[in-house]
Amino acid sequence: MGFGESPFPVHEFIKQSLCRNADKKSYLPTQGILALREQISEFYKEIFKLNYSADQIIVALGSKSLIFHSIAAIDGALLLPTPSWVSYQHQAYLVNKKIIYMQTSPDNSYLLTPEQLLSTLDRYFKDKNQQKVLLLNYPSNPTGQSYSRSQLENLVPILRKNNIIVISDEIYSLITYNNHKHHSLAQFYPEGTIVSGGFSKDRSLGGYRLGILLLPKYQNDLKRAILSIVSEIWSSAASPIQYAAIDAYNTDSVMIDYIKTCTEIHQLMTGYCYKRFSKAGIHCLRPKGGFYLFPDWNNFTEELSTLDITTGRKLGKFLLKKYDIATLPGSEFGMPRKHLSLRVSPVDYNGELVLKEFQKKPIKTDGESEDFLIRNAPNIKMACDRLEQFTSSL
Ligand SMILES: Cc1ncc(COP(=O)(O)O)c(C=O)c1O
Repeated sequence: MGFGESPFPVHEFIKQSLCRNADKKSYLPTQGILALREQISEFYKEIFKLNYSADQIIVALGSKSLIFHSIAAIDGALLLPTPSWVSYQHQAYLVNKKIIYMQTSPDNSYLLTPEQLLSTLDRYFKDKNQQKVLLLNYPSNPTGQSYSRSQLENLVPILRKNNIIVISDEIYSLITYNNHKHHSLAQFYPEGTIVSGGFSKDRSLGGYRLGILLLPKYQNDLKRAILSIVSEIWSSAASPIQYAAIDAYNTDSVMIDYIKTCTEIHQLMTGYCYKRFSKAGIHCLRPKGGFYLFPDWNNFTEELSTLDITTGRKLGKFLLKKYDIATLPGSEFGMPRKHLSLRVSPVDYNGELVLKEFQKKPIKTDGESEDFLIRNAPNIKMACDRLEQFTSSL
């Protein structure tokens, strides 16, 4: 439950495309090949109703490097809601950027509220016009929570008034569960939003190392700055991967069904864990997307302190040693040390087998999805059994 990687196999369609393009060996344009950027432009138009021309798109080695380059290229402090993905703060350290943390609350689904953003701005910035960068990630790694349309819209007047550029990390946007809809901040704040994405998660292609940025119109200085960094360090993303990515971003292809099916399986796995945690008295929010849960044992502070478990890190170590369960402590995501939260990623199953079994027969009821999980993902059930056992022993 520790390493958050989607376990599904590379789709046959992409494997074949990659084979066909194995002879592409030249260095490519820093921004990415035009045919791919045009395809991505179509993809975002069709799936998310976002209008970005190929000229506003950068393709490079994973969205991780593009987020880093954006953080490096944009002046001003980084406003970082916590909990948030482990790498953002370390990337900011690497370029000596000042970080202003904003601790969110489970009462607000760990989302940034307009009030919180306003009070942070009042506290740290005398000059409204001073440049700042805000990093948002939804659906979120580690919480699985996401912003609704109105929650995003309510942030916009503040962002606009205070000269804030937002890096909107939407890498899990296509892994949004069927009773929710993903909205991008770029729909409401196009002039100040950089959308970050890629196919590492929804198409299970993390090791292909390809990520994308969608840049606001008329931000040519920003584009030039990011491209200068990409050019000096990476030159360009790998050639065969860029050509194969044209197929991966094709909306008429089997890839859309593949993404949908994988998302349904992620929903089944996190939904099962959520139910088991709730039944065991473990506090946890129901995820709306991605493949993570963020349970906490803060209701058991006293009981846990008798075992010398006083921090999230100690809790994680204890579970690893005594119960063979790997997780990541909330403190790695910027939570206070004493917050007894863990990130749990239920992906420990054979993705190829699970995908095949899932496609055989549609699952209609809760009972059927539980049976499916018990049969095909026994390690997830075992981990839930052990967490329940641990919690009831307190
Ligand atoms: C929230 C978030 N953003 C970005 C990334 C990086 O993805 P990639 O560099 O593979 O595009 C990850 C990967 O773990 C992630 O969880």
